[in-house]
Amino acid sequence: MSAEPLEIYLEEQDLGRGLREDVRAGLTSTPKWLPPKWFYDARGSELFEEITRLPEYYPTRAERAVLAEHADDVAELTGAKTLIELGSGSSEKTRLLLDAFTRHGELGTFVPLDVSVSALRQSTEQIAAEYPGLRVRGVVGDFTRQLDRLPTGGRRLVVFLGGTIGNLLPVERAEFLNSMRSALEAGDWLLIGTDLVKDPGVIVPAYDDAAGVTADFNRNVLRVINRELGANFDPESFRHVAVWDPEHEWVEMRLRAERPTRVRVLDLDVEFAAGEDLRTEISAKFRPEGIAAELAAAGFARQAFWTDPAGLFGVSLARAD
Ligand code: SAH
Ligand code: AVI
Repeated sequence: MSAEPLEIYLEEQDLGRGLREDVRAGLTSTPKWLPPKWFYDARGSELFEEITRLPEYYPTRAERAVLAEHADDVAELTGAKTLIELGSGSSEKTRLLLDAFTRHGELGTFVPLDVSVSALRQSTEQIAAEYPGLRVRGVVGDFTRQLDRLPTGGRRLVVFLGGTIGNLLPVERAEFLNSMRSALEAGDWLLIGTDLVKDPGVIVPAYDDAAGVTADFNRNVLRVINRELGANFDPESFRHVAVWDPEHEWVEMRLRAERPTRVRVLDLDVEFAAGEDLRTEISAKFRPEGIAAELAAAGFARQAFWTDPAGLFGVSLARAD
């Protein structure tokens, strides 16, 4: 079966407006920042896939190990009819869940949602071909804004993998979980992957790899802004920096101006002093009890928590109360 045409919750013009608003807000703030969702044009999505194969980047391998071990438990416990995946990207690990649901036999529809049209096109075509009989409805949308439009009916399982929830600030995370709960009915399920707090000596290299792929991914946001908004960033004049913040227990990715730099973007002249940072991403790391508390505060009861054998990454299965 071929995938259904992508459903568009977010039009090109919404994306353009969103980027302009974020660039104006972030580049006129002190310190300067940009939200991480703008990394993911076609090249950014490919670079992320490359990151997942790096020796230093453990989260994907660790989460895959958890899913390989527990996908059958997820299928049995949830009995879901509809699987919705937020920030689905390539949905590579999700195939472990789809395989388990195929064995348990109840899933009818898979709905991957992502801002990246290129990632969705590829993943939906491939999954529709690999799982004949499964309805595949790809959605172009923003999981921080459009959860109220998720498909209804049938028992639903929402999966949010990769630790992407850690890319939201704590206040955004609480808003996200509350909106998620409002979008679901009691008895629906949420499966959420979170990278765990550990030695920063393990975390920081995962965000600053020797081959420079993460640096290229980080600079990609400047290429997106140049192309979409006609700006004149010189990406190579910004150095990739990854810093562990022990107070917040998150790693920050930044782009540091190597020399005094002036950038023309929209109607702004944005000045960077030498050594000034632009924050492009936080990636929060979690403690098992903290995740359960955040889920409970939003109206989810955690039913299971699994980690990989080395305890690097956690996956929580929670039911909407
Ligand atoms: N879930 C996959 C991909 C993680 S990369 C994995 O575990 O490997 C993060 C994904 O989230 C990217 O595909 C990116 O395009 C998407 N994304 C980031 N911010 C988003 C947002 N606000 N709304 C929807 N998708 C988003
Ligand atoms: C998508 N997200 C969970 C990744 C992370 O680890 O925070 C994005 C990433 N940034 C740098 N490397 C990977």
